[in-house]
Amino acid sequence: VDILRGLFPDGVATATGDPRLAAENGLPEEERYVARAVEHRRREFHAGRAAARTAMAKLGLEAVAIPAAPDRAPVWPSGVTGSISHCASLCVAAVARTLDGPLSIGVDVEPADPLAEDLVEAICTQAERNWLAGQPADRRMVLARTIFSAKEAVYKCQYPLTRVMLEFSDVGIALGSDTYAASFLRPVPGLMGDTVLVGRYRIAQGHIVTSAAIGGTE
Ligand SMILES: CC(C)(COP(=O)(O)OP(=O)(O)OC[C@H]1O[C@@H](n2cnc3c(N)ncnc32)[C@H](O)[C@@H]1OP(=O)(O)O)[C@@H](O)C(=O)NCCC(=O)NCCS
Repeated sequence: VDILRGLFPDGVATATGDPRLAAENGLPEEERYVARAVEHRRREFHAGRAAARTAMAKLGLEAVAIPAAPDRAPVWPSGVTGSISHCASLCVAAVARTLDGPLSIGVDVEPADPLAEDLVEAICTQAERNWLAGQPADRRMVLARTIFSAKEAVYKCQYPLTRVMLEFSDVGIALGSDTYAASFLRPVPGLMGDTVLVGRYRIAQGHIVTSAAIGGTE
């Protein structure tokens, strides 16, 4: 079963990879971005690029190199947007043509393990903590981690459009059963009227995956 199925709006192609395996189709021109990195970082980087190219092929796009900008954001070909995420056991990529898909997308993957209690205060707003307090104790900290993941997906989605760095306190997440609403709690120049985004999430197969999208058909 594809953990990413239905997680993005129409026009978005997705693919997964295993960051524990040596990437088979890492491109030599991408090696310089991780040449001095430790082995697990090199593997996750190349697995992410490989998954992105698998997704690009589903859109009929050429399997080009995807440079990394100095700020680490991937540099997609003209007319293409995308997002990459990895955790120890899974890497995910989502790609779209901006002409018939969203203007920007974000994806994040986490292990479906509880968030460490001591991180909640740094990551969650008071409203989010109040909501979490009302959730079943056995699910509470996995939901807290889902809020964390959603903030990462929203951050990656807005960044290519705004180049704004956000704090965790700048975004408020309200989780539904398989979607979430993200509110920007500060003005973000470049987002126009999009002060609330609807994203999607899934907790399955030992992972939390969250998606965010701006623009497009939805
Ligand atoms: C960019 C960031 C979100 C990445 O998250 P992470 O937990 O380190 O790791 P992930 O595996 O989920 O994502 C990493 C990928 O995100 C992508 N990425 C990195 N910087 C990015 C940016 N500014 N915009 C969009 N995508 C970015 C890259 O593809 C990267 O993988 P790669 O280096 O192998 O290509 C995080 O490092 C960061 O800088 N966060 C800023 C502070 C924050 O979390 N704010 C949230 C407030 S709402």
